[in-house]
Amino acid sequence: MAIPGRELYDDPRFFAGYRRLRETRSGLNEVLEIPALARLLPDVSGASVVDLGCGAGALARRLAGAGAAHVLGVDASARMLALARPHPGVGYLRADLETLALRPGSADLVVSSLALHYVADYTGLVARIATWLRPGGRLVFSVEHPVCTARDPMAGWVRAGRAGDAGHDDRVWAVDDYADEGPRTQTWFVDGVLKYHRRVSTLVNGLLAAGLALLAVVEPVPDPDEVDRRPDLADELRRPSFLMLAAQRPRHAAASDGGPPAPRQDSGTPSVR
Ligand SMILES: C[S@@+](CC[C@H](N)C(=O)[O-])C[C@H]1O[C@@H](n2cnc3c(N)ncnc32)[C@H](O)[C@@H]1O
Repeated sequence: MAIPGRELYDDPRFFAGYRRLRETRSGLNEVLEIPALARLLPDVSGASVVDLGCGAGALARRLAGAGAAHVLGVDASARMLALARPHPGVGYLRADLETLALRPGSADLVVSSLALHYVADYTGLVARIATWLRPGGRLVFSVEHPVCTARDPMAGWVRAGRAGDAGHDDRVWAVDDYADEGPRTQTWFVDGVLKYHRRVSTLVNGLLAAGLALLAVVEPVPDPDEVDRRPDLADELRRPSFLMLAAQRPRHAAASDGGPPAPRQDSGTPSVR
């Protein structure tokens, strides 16, 4: 049985494993993904921000602390939102990104950290995000890198049977079925974790098709001193774990100041916590 992202984080067995991973900071988030995403973010002073798949809200609270006028953190998981500490500048909304509707022209910045690879309709979501942005507003997000989502990333390293170049061991990262876009299931704390594989070109072209201008493409790698401290990070120099894209709604788009990014009245979305 496949478990979609909107249900996954409320699965008690998955949640326990994921929470342990984040609390022990043993994953790559803190060392690689969070700093790289932060470097892509614009000055948020006075900005209206939406964080899609906000989880426990750490990024949302950080952006509010950095001067954003308001941050709306959206997540489907009650368990994740229950971990989200209140902050005067942050509102949390339990909603599914597949159907989320926000006020057009209401956001200066839409961010998303490692959530969009759970969404089936990427193109549709990006098209909706483009309408939520004010002219000049930005979308900045990270996903698991397509080099990792093409096959089951838990089975990514395979034995090549001979030592590699540059002193590498005999493992290589296997990429296969890259052009076969669509759902993938893997075992990650539980069986049947459902994610969506898309090519880099599809992720970029989805932004362009939504009328956004591409600003940056980032595949973060650790600094040499980080690799000295944590030798396992050397693998991040051999294949990319994360892809980050930043895009902007052109400034000349018709202005419509819809106020802060509240859910549309007709969307039927649950109430803001
Ligand atoms: C890997 S976690 C990242 C959480 C947070 N952004 C962070 O970086 O700590 C992915 C988050 O996306 C949320 N998510 C997955 N699919 C979703 C969907 N369809 N709608 C809303 N949230 C979703 C999950 O509940 C989870 O909190």
